[in-house]
Amino acid sequence: MTSTRGRIWTVGVVGCGIGRSHLEAYRRLPDKFHVRALCDIDERRLANVGDQFSVARRTKSFDDLLGFDEIDIIDICTPPALHVAQTLKALSAGKEVVCEKPLAGSLADIDRVIAAEASAAGRVMPIFQYRFGNGVQKAKSIIDKGVAGTPYLATVETAWRRTPKYYETQWRGRLATEFGGVLLTHAIHSHDLLTFLMGPVASVFARTSTRVNPVEVEDCAVASVVMESGALASLAATLGSQKEISRLRLCFEHVTFESSSAPYSPGDDPWQIIPASQEAAARITDVLAEHRFVPSGFEGLMTAYHTALTTGGALPVSLSDARQSIELVTALYQSAANGVAVNLPIRSTGRQAFS
Ligand SMILES: NC(=O)c1ccc[n+]([C@@H]2O[C@H](COP(=O)([O-])OP(=O)(O)OC[C@H]3O[C@@H](n4cnc5c(N)ncnc54)[C@H](O)[C@@H]3O)[C@@H](O)[C@H]2O)c1
Repeated sequence: MTSTRGRIWTVGVVGCGIGRSHLEAYRRLPDKFHVRALCDIDERRLANVGDQFSVARRTKSFDDLLGFDEIDIIDICTPPALHVAQTLKALSAGKEVVCEKPLAGSLADIDRVIAAEASAAGRVMPIFQYRFGNGVQKAKSIIDKGVAGTPYLATVETAWRRTPKYYETQWRGRLATEFGGVLLTHAIHSHDLLTFLMGPVASVFARTSTRVNPVEVEDCAVASVVMESGALASLAATLGSQKEISRLRLCFEHVTFESSSAPYSPGDDPWQIIPASQEAAARITDVLAEHRFVPSGFEGLMTAYHTALTTGGALPVSLSDARQSIELVTALYQSAANGVAVNLPIRSTGRQAFS
């Protein structure tokens, strides 16, 4: 087998909105990735972003992009309703696939992607870039090394602000094209951090409301959660906060963690790491002595992705992570719709929508 260590992977990005942030990350990693082509149906955006990032090969057709043999990775940054179809097509074309959140609008669709990946040459890396930052990675190491002890309770806040301008983009705010609101599109990141650090969810009771903008999807939500470990968590998410923050507070037996409150990078330092005793403090110091700098956000995620591609090791974010996230959102929507607690795991119902 030929070693792929050190290889530069070639990328085609489709969708030039958040796609710009992916391009910035790839540009900071020139020894790992080279973006060779861009695709967008919006000609002006395609031209602007292509010029900004000096990507010469451009197309308005996703099928053309898939036909470019020199491209290893298709990076999907299109609106949510296109993610599953484009991911399945890219896998069929033999490509590696990166796909923005949410990967799908139902568990049934995620399961179709999981089945397709099982028989494909490439793999799918869903995006959860908030996992990358020094604060969250230090907390993760302390927990994984068994130093934190029994999880007690977490509070997770996503307090962002969205005005009518945000909803001028046609796919946003509509059930048929966005699939959900603050729980699916925005708080999905912080809720992924909760399960990343405290493990799977066992049960939820949620309430949702649309109060901030006149849209079809929810823009305020709260939930009371029981984790599989027995720990309790409370989630609060709104798009009507004049000061934007994201914040996680996680209380364990031997340590309490409090994230930074940077709304779009809560995983970055500084995190407060508060030990319960001198002994816990000493064990935490030992763990953190081994900590190596982790780039934040997309750059951190893509750096870890490169390692996984070149070694064939586990992807930094997997389809099973995306499924866990969509399963939690499904449980939250079902609970809010029916006014009952919903237990996980949830079986795929085959329906296209969450509720
Ligand atoms: N990870 C994050 O932090 C983050 C942040 C923002 C958005 N997102 C996600 O990224 C996705 C895109 O969001 P956005 O804000 O960039 O949306 P956007 O509407 O600004 O950009 C999407 C782009 O896709 C293009 N497009 C649409 N259909 C296409 C097609 N068939 N072929 C090629 N191009 C097509 C559009 O012209 C547009 O330029 C969403 O799923 C969103 O939830 C993730």
